[in-house]
Amino acid sequence: MKFKIAAVLATIALGLPAHADGDAEKGEKEFKKCKSCHAIESPDETIVKGGRTGPNLFGVAGHVAGSVEDFRYSDLLAAANAQGIEWTEENFVGYVQDPTGWLKETTGESGRGKMTYKVRKEDDAKDLFAYLSSLSE
Ligand code: HEC
Repeated sequence: MKFKIAAVLATIALGLPAHADGDAEKGEKEFKKCKSCHAIESPDETIVKGGRTGPNLFGVAGHVAGSVEDFRYSDLLAAANAQGIEWTEENFVGYVQDPTGWLKETTGESGRGKMTYKVRKEDDAKDLFAYLSSLSE
């Protein structure tokens, strides 16, 4: 019986879609502010052409922070990676509104994040998350 309950719970957890209450269409427009530093490139196509200052954001939603290969992250973001922190909606929304502050608070480490841009409104951050989630595999 115990086993059965565990199995049901696991199914529910796996079946849950990435929680997103933002508007992906608005997020797509909002992404114009990110393009100077971030591209969105899937393994087989460039979805949004962008700068190289920041990592490729394809598939970022739901993945572990700081996991784009060959990108040189700040020590703070590398710490988030080492701690297995994932880009859930909540974490993403907190991060993009205050990258360095959020990283320090969440990882408990000191230092400076490399992303200098801040999203001012929480709703915009949610829309961006919805947009990026819609592009993940
Ligand atoms: C001025 C350049 C710049 C702009 C504009 C910018 N970013 Fe960033 N972003 C960066 C850099 C650099 C990093 C790597 C940060 C680090 O290593 O601390 C980063 C990291 C990130 C990460 C973590 C990625 C990962 O692999 O874990 C997310 C998510 C992110 N940015 C989202 C956004 C969004 C959304 C926008 C637009 C609202 C945006 N960024 C605008 C430079 C920028």
